[in-house]
Amino acid sequence: MTAPLVEASSAATSHTTGFPSIRPRRLRRTSQLRQLVSETALAPSDFIEPLFVAEGVRERVPVPSMPGVFQLSISELVREAREIESLHLPAIIVFGIPDAKDQLGTGAYSRDGIVQRAVRAVKDACPNLVVITDVCLCEYTSHGHCGVVSDGAVLNDPTLELLARTAVSHADAGADIVAPSDMMDGRVGAIRRALDESGHVDTPILSYAAKYASAFYGPFREAAESTPQFGDRRSYQMDVGNAREALREVELDLQEGADMVMVKPALAFLDVIWRVKQTVAVPVGAYNVSGEYAMVKAAAERGWIDGPAITLEILTGIKRAGADFILTYHAREAARALGWG
Ligand code: PBG
Repeated sequence: MTAPLVEASSAATSHTTGFPSIRPRRLRRTSQLRQLVSETALAPSDFIEPLFVAEGVRERVPVPSMPGVFQLSISELVREAREIESLHLPAIIVFGIPDAKDQLGTGAYSRDGIVQRAVRAVKDACPNLVVITDVCLCEYTSHGHCGVVSDGAVLNDPTLELLARTAVSHADAGADIVAPSDMMDGRVGAIRRALDESGHVDTPILSYAAKYASAFYGPFREAAESTPQFGDRRSYQMDVGNAREALREVELDLQEGADMVMVKPALAFLDVIWRVKQTVAVPVGAYNVSGEYAMVKAAAERGWIDGPAITLEILTGIKRAGADFILTYHAREAARALGWG
């Protein structure tokens, strides 16, 4: 039997008064005391802001289900990148929306694809901002799946070559980190090999290692125009009920050479973030995804919740669960709410 933390009657209660002698409230009395003993403090350096750059968009087009989020032209993307840098946010992750899609997602790995051009422009304007690129085919394929499709099935191995080409083209354009989100088996290894062979030995891989087949991606698919045209993503993304399997996915990605791993979505998977954090020594990221953002915005718009307070509480919870950094559409507003800029 384990000993109780305190002897209930003797230590916790005063003999003389009969009232509690141990009072956690003593350390909550003033805001200075609370700050002194705070276990989890948010800072702008915790956040990575996702941005959508679209071919054929003039300036910006609002995403209806994500208030405050836009499909951006390259020059608007650069403008946002500058603002993000001025708020002391360290990084952005860029998603591309091409004009034309095809069976093999050619736009994803073309030298002059939308992401490749966007990365060059942002790195030109903001050389110190960390630019991460999402490596996936779903925004570029006519069927909307994250890999090569044949007879209604998403093929694993033929997809690896295309993902590797995509990652190399992003690194060639100046991406600081590549982040594969497709969930094909072996993709981290294929990408690492291709990066090394093309001279990008110093480009880290942030792997979406534990990525679940989640309904929370709905608004993103509207923003990125990447809804699958048939079926769903359950044959490659993880089953929502599986937590031990996340550890296996993480372990495999690390064996293949991932430098950092990510859990996605965040809110319904805080236990997974925690478990991964306890298990590995690499940085662990969490993606506070589009549906999580949309729910907060929708309820706040109706006046049903206090949007800014709930946003900071959610981000604090994700960090407390173990996230070393958080990809979030709230990045700029959170930085401002924390008093930066
Ligand atoms: C691409 C990708 C998706 C997200 C990030 N990268 C969508 C998906 O897998 O369908 C979702 C991000 C979000 O919902 O905010 N594969």
